[in-house]
Amino acid sequence: MLLEVRDLRVEFHTRDGVAKAVDGVSYGVDAGETLAVLGESGSGKSVTAQAVMGILDVPPGRITGGEVVFRGRDLLKLKEDERRKVRGAEMAMIFQDALSSLNPVLSVGDQLAEMFTVHRGMSRRDARARAVELMDRVRIPAARERAGQYPHQFSGGMRQRIMIAMALALEPALIIADEPTTALDVTVQAQVMELLAELRRELGMGLILITHDLGVVADVADRIAVMYAGRIVESAPVHDVYKAPAHPYTRGLLDSVPRLDLKGRELRAIKGLPPNLTRVPPGCAFHPRCPLARDVCRTDEPPLYEVSATRGSACHFWRECLDD
Ligand SMILES: Nc1ncnc2c1ncn2[C@@H]1O[C@H](COP(=O)(O)OP(=O)(O)OP(=O)(O)O)[C@@H](O)[C@H]1O
Ligand code: SF4
Ligand SMILES: [Mg+2]
Repeated sequence: MLLEVRDLRVEFHTRDGVAKAVDGVSYGVDAGETLAVLGESGSGKSVTAQAVMGILDVPPGRITGGEVVFRGRDLLKLKEDERRKVRGAEMAMIFQDALSSLNPVLSVGDQLAEMFTVHRGMSRRDARARAVELMDRVRIPAARERAGQYPHQFSGGMRQRIMIAMALALEPALIIADEPTTALDVTVQAQVMELLAELRRELGMGLILITHDLGVVADVADRIAVMYAGRIVESAPVHDVYKAPAHPYTRGLLDSVPRLDLKGRELRAIKGLPPNLTRVPPGCAFHPRCPLARDVCRTDEPPLYEVSATRGSACHFWRECLDD
């Protein structure tokens, strides 16, 4: 495994009490593999990624347990200066909002070139040439001319390509993309996602793709981890999930996505809202919204049951869900 997150726990101390934003999350990704992380807003997808990248705001956040084993080392045990070396060079992150992640007063070419002068000790001239190469690689038309322009002079989709170029610059082994296309319109979303998938294949990186969009997942991901209230509720190869989800929450997510193969079937959103993380319901956290819930669900927290060698579900009634 390139990255293995084991039993990770992150808390936030808020005025309402302690929010367990990440409550024992385990997931892994191999070189050349894409793991999609899904779940509604507030389920802990980004906080988990921030803890992996070492960019969690501490405080208010606090890592209270677990391991983040990357290339054989537990990153949580590294000192900040060692951690910084891993960041960018070995793992990089792409965010939703390119405009606030890029420097507004530095030309795009200079920002990319800086990656090479600072981290690789290249001359300005060589670095600038590499920057233009990278812009070409992420298919920014007229890269040489546009390298002198500033972030605000690019469209949303082009800016996101620049973010991808920044992330790829040092050829990291792992990329974490946190909703990389959410702010874009639908056609541009598809193009950017395709580019990301293609570069991932070409470079053999591991990719963690955080997304709300189950539609894109089938095409680009190998595995899916579904999060609910700070926990993984289903973890499985992507095709298994599409064939038959083993958790009612995954089923709910699937049912709320338009699918070509299920034309005519009514779209159903999951009823209700995810819980406030300072007051997670006892037993199965999903029980107030679950159509299969019964008494045991309100008292006993389901472990991640082994559905198969490559699949887990945190539902007492996963068999029923699969057969349904
Ligand atoms: N800075 C913060 N202060 C307090 N609580 C926070 C903070 N950041 C995150 N949280 C808590 O962590 C939970 C998980 O947040 P996270 O950003 O990981 O959600 P997410 O799954 O990425 O959602 P989204 O899809 O909206 O991006 C939030 O519901 C909130 O309770
Ligand atoms: S454990 Fe019960 S409440 Fe939770 S998902 Fe399964 S059936 Fe629903
Ligand atoms: Mg998020």
